[in-house]
Amino acid sequence: MKQSIYQMLVLFLLLILCMVGASACVKDAPKEEFLAEREPPIDEKGQEKPAGQPIKIGFSMDTLLEERWLKDRDLFKESIEALGAEVEILAANGNDALQILQAEKLISEGVDLLVIVPHNAEATAAVVHKAHQAGIKVVAYDRLVKNADIDLYISFDNEKVGELQAQAMLEEAPKGNYVYLGGAETDNNAHMMKKGVYNVLQPLIDKGDIKIVYDQWTQDWAPENAKENMAAALSANGGKVDAVIAANDATAGGALEALKGYGLAEKIPVAGQDAELAGIQRIVQGTQTMTVYKPIKTLAKETAELAVALAKGEKVAVNRKVHNGKAEVPAVFLSPVRVDGTNLEDTVIADGFHSETAIYGPQ
Ligand code: BGC
Repeated sequence: MKQSIYQMLVLFLLLILCMVGASACVKDAPKEEFLAEREPPIDEKGQEKPAGQPIKIGFSMDTLLEERWLKDRDLFKESIEALGAEVEILAANGNDALQILQAEKLISEGVDLLVIVPHNAEATAAVVHKAHQAGIKVVAYDRLVKNADIDLYISFDNEKVGELQAQAMLEEAPKGNYVYLGGAETDNNAHMMKKGVYNVLQPLIDKGDIKIVYDQWTQDWAPENAKENMAAALSANGGKVDAVIAANDATAGGALEALKGYGLAEKIPVAGQDAELAGIQRIVQGTQTMTVYKPIKTLAKETAELAVALAKGEKVAVNRKVHNGKAEVPAVFLSPVRVDGTNLEDTVIADGFHSETAIYGPQ
């Protein structure tokens, strides 16, 4: 009798252990896929937001001086408003100190969540800290904020952007002297794009088929700086350049100015990114070989949905984790698309990114 009571006790203990074990497994498993639930939105006085009051998102932008960011601004506003939320947008036009001030203003106004396009990946970490102190979550839009506990990062697969560029250039120039004009060193995207380019080129560099004769960052992504760098690359190599990979269309445009001076425009392949109208027109004219199209409408819409959900304290699904120097940041990556003279109709025109009239003119 004593023995059977003992056996029952052991069985009971085993059962409890199993249940604890099982619940621990369930808790751990899906964490990769979802961000943890946080507190519901609070207003500036630290009170819970009354039901029925619209969610307000702050959008702190690096710049509005480049074509793509005007699209981002308009499409993000449209998407936020379609969700019944509100957005306040401030742009710092490349000024780090101003961007921090503007983000602080949005935080002090008590936005429910801050979405940021950092001009400087490192400098904006301070903003994230301030926002969190005020109970406001932060989403990095298109560009990563480094060394900060950001809540979510959403972008295109920037490494893939570089890979698409390099693959396209290799089809045009399988051997020869390559120039790489990188983006702004302060922008984490520029680093990822460069990595993508080298993922593809390195085996050919090792084989001796490709020689990188010039590789420089372009301060602030400015076309005039890209033009200067391209001129330096040409003069250092006596004009012997077989392909140019520029980190975006604006820098490709700058590079082409310098190539014209050497009679090389239209003669050597040039890659860019963004599918900017000027870049697409150069593809049609034959001075630029390709660009990379990133459907900004999708980026803006997805960010708006994720931001509003996070502001409401809801869970959101992610498809990546990116280490930003401080944390494993939950991330969502969208796919970039290679665009050249063969697929304008099916990509930028089909999506209404640019109209045929805008590209080819009224005739
Ligand atoms: C973006 C590019 C853009 C560049 C300059 C990068 O972070 O990914 O699309 O052309 O910034 O604004």
